Amino acid sequence: MTALLLRKVAVVTGGASGIGLASAERFVAEGARVVIGDIADDHGRAVADRLGDAATFVHTDVTDESAIEGIVAAAVATYGRLDVMFNNAGNQGDVSSLSDLDADGFDRTLALLTRSVALGHKYASRQFRAQGGGGAIISTSSTAGLQGAWAGPAYTAAKHAVIGLVRQAVAELAPLGIRSNVIAPGTIMTPIMANAFGVPAAQAREFLAYLAQELGPKLPIGRVGVPEEVADVALFLASDLSRYVTGVTVPIDGGATAVTQGTFGIDVVKAAEMFTQGARAA
Ligand SMILES: NC(=O)c1ccc[n+]([C@@H]2O[C@H](COP(=O)([O-])OP(=O)(O)OC[C@H]3O[C@@H](n4cnc5c(N)ncnc54)[C@H](O)[C@@H]3O)[C@@H](O)[C@H]2O)c1
Repeated sequence: MTALLLRKVAVVTGGASGIGLASAERFVAEGARVVIGDIADDHGRAVADRLGDAATFVHTDVTDESAIEGIVAAAVATYGRLDVMFNNAGNQGDVSSLSDLDADGFDRTLALLTRSVALGHKYASRQFRAQGGGGAIISTSSTAGLQGAWAGPAYTAAKHAVIGLVRQAVAELAPLGIRSNVIAPGTIMTPIMANAFGVPAAQAREFLAYLAQELGPKLPIGRVGVPEEVADVALFLASDLSRYVTGVTVPIDGGATAVTQGTFGIDVVKAAEMFTQGARAA
């Protein structure tokens, strides 16, 4: 074991599934103790049970400020300190188009995907200061935080805002030795993809396989990504290997945002429609 996170304590929001789950597992494998925060209690508890004493689950709705304060307090109460805050929880948010915008849905999406990240910085940085400085914050944006056409306007705005927030965090927190970086996943096969298109859980695996087959060849690297590939980058940003890195956004997208993708985001929607129409007809 390389133990890149030995003696470190991490909070991972959205740790019951997908990218957060893979990251919690990776962090523990590298010696960390992890507090998993999620609204999916059954999945979150099962993950924490599987990981043993090194992991704890705390019901956490990141749209609720007191819950974010609570999960940082839980990390300190359970494991004595906090070293890494991974602001990762999220879903597709409101999907209405600009000309049909649902204003409340827009606000809810920003509360889930952006305000939660700001509040994660608030409570993590307070704890880091109380410990004497230092600490790493990682926040999940998206290729939709770098370009348009990957998602709806609310999600796109929210994920762009995460990148701006982290740049601001550098100004305030780098002098305290607190690093803050962003990961921007592209097309990663997690349940969020199935949920976003209303595919029933029973068909999720088949749907993801279909998307991988349809969309993978269109990406520069020739395939879609898996959560473990995002977790590896989160591990780098959480660990001291990245001790001189702050304020950066790392795309984890198989090269998608490095080149002109045309209408890849629209291709995703079309592929999903093809699948769901076929499934309905069957
Ligand atoms: N999968 C991708 O292709 C992709 C691409 C770009 C960005 N992302 C981002 O990655 C992050 C993780 O998504 P994922 O793909 O692992 O999806 P996922 O659905 O597998 O996991 C997301 C987790 O967040 C939890 N969650 C949702 N709302 C919450 C809330 N209010 N409070 C606490 N937890 C909540 C869910 O219960 C779930 O366990 C999200 O921020 C998402 O926007 C994913």
